[in-house]
Amino acid sequence: MTVRCPDCSAVLDAFTLQSTCSACGGLLVVEHDPAKSGGELRALFDGRAAKAARCVDALERSGVWRFRELVLDANDLEIVSHPEGNTPVLAREAVAKFAGVDALLMKHEGHNPTGSFKDRGMTVALTQARRIGARAVACASTGNTSASLSAYASQAGIPSFVFVPEGRVAAGKLAQTVAYGARTLQIRGDFDDCLRLARDASDKLGVYLVNSVNPFRIEGQKTIVFELLQQLEWNAPDWIALPAGNLGNTSAFGKALAEAFGFGLIDRIPRLLAVQAAGAAPFAQAYADHFARRISVRAETRATAIRIGDPASWDRAVRAIAATNGVVESVTDDEIFAAKAVIDRCGVGCEPASAASVAGVRALAARGLIRRDERVVAVLTGHLLKDPGSGATSDDQSSGALTPDEALALLERAVFA
Ligand code: F0G
Repeated sequence: MTVRCPDCSAVLDAFTLQSTCSACGGLLVVEHDPAKSGGELRALFDGRAAKAARCVDALERSGVWRFRELVLDANDLEIVSHPEGNTPVLAREAVAKFAGVDALLMKHEGHNPTGSFKDRGMTVALTQARRIGARAVACASTGNTSASLSAYASQAGIPSFVFVPEGRVAAGKLAQTVAYGARTLQIRGDFDDCLRLARDASDKLGVYLVNSVNPFRIEGQKTIVFELLQQLEWNAPDWIALPAGNLGNTSAFGKALAEAFGFGLIDRIPRLLAVQAAGAAPFAQAYADHFARRISVRAETRATAIRIGDPASWDRAVRAIAATNGVVESVTDDEIFAAKAVIDRCGVGCEPASAASVAGVRALAARGLIRRDERVVAVLTGHLLKDPGSGATSDDQSSGALTPDEALALLERAVFA
């Protein structure tokens, strides 16, 4: 395993505290050399998955550490695992119909221990924090990263600090962050201000930064794709759609697919569809202009998880889109909430930002860019209960408080209508 700067090729110590190259400022990446064929890796991963179903040991059950040869070569005693991963792949006819494709699957990362995909990156980042002897860890967050950091830092016994934009974090996420024990600082500013502050704190105070600029976060998040491919018996789908904010996950997906193909786990690369909210869509704007320049905006969207105007993992995400012949799309908040309503009503449910993936598939299918007969997987990144206040689908189902007699009368009218 090597930690390298992809921009100037500098090789760094694998125990570095840094996320960026000191020579050129590029975001570092972790490289692997598994020294096994694709068939050997598949057999190893499949064997562990079969065993995981029959045991209670966290490490053996983890859907992240199952792929450890392509994640981090830590020893067992260093690993901080809940466990995480093993999230379901779901098919619902109503959602496929809404999206306009025949075969739509949803990989639901809201089934992770703290209710979002962030746990996959955090198990690796906190393991690395423990390996390098970090005195404290910190992040900026729109809520999910902070909830996950707080839980994993507590498990690791490392003090944690989070910076969140005041008044802009969904209630469920803030409650988790505080309850798991992170020192939670609300900042007068938006996510982009919080991230600048977190990077500053890391540079000046040596606190270990665990935002997705941290290369080890990316290694963990790659396992969303590895696990999905494994669940599909290593038959790659045509498209994988995901919501995009700070672009860490887009970067992780691109890296995972390049590695899965490069190491022989799959024989072709699915196309990535990264979906932003229209009010927070600098990456989609730049894509439309062939990434001629980097763009930042003042972000505004009701999908608070992806309310980000100056994404940190820009260059990595550009590489991910290029490597997968990917597409970047933006969808309005109304489109996001329309998709969420369909996802919720079929009993699956997700937080608003997650529904952007399905809204994006619908937009591309409507334009004929995704064909009806293509196999599409939309990743749902967070659990419905993360943002209970967003309630777009519950308003018309709830009534004011009733007496039991009124309730019975209402039920009678509804059932026999
Ligand atoms: N979906 C959810 C539910 C998220 O919480 C996030 C990011 C994303 C999608 C976008 O992923 O940033 O890697 O492009 N949430 C971060 C946080 C920013 O602080 O929790 P991304």
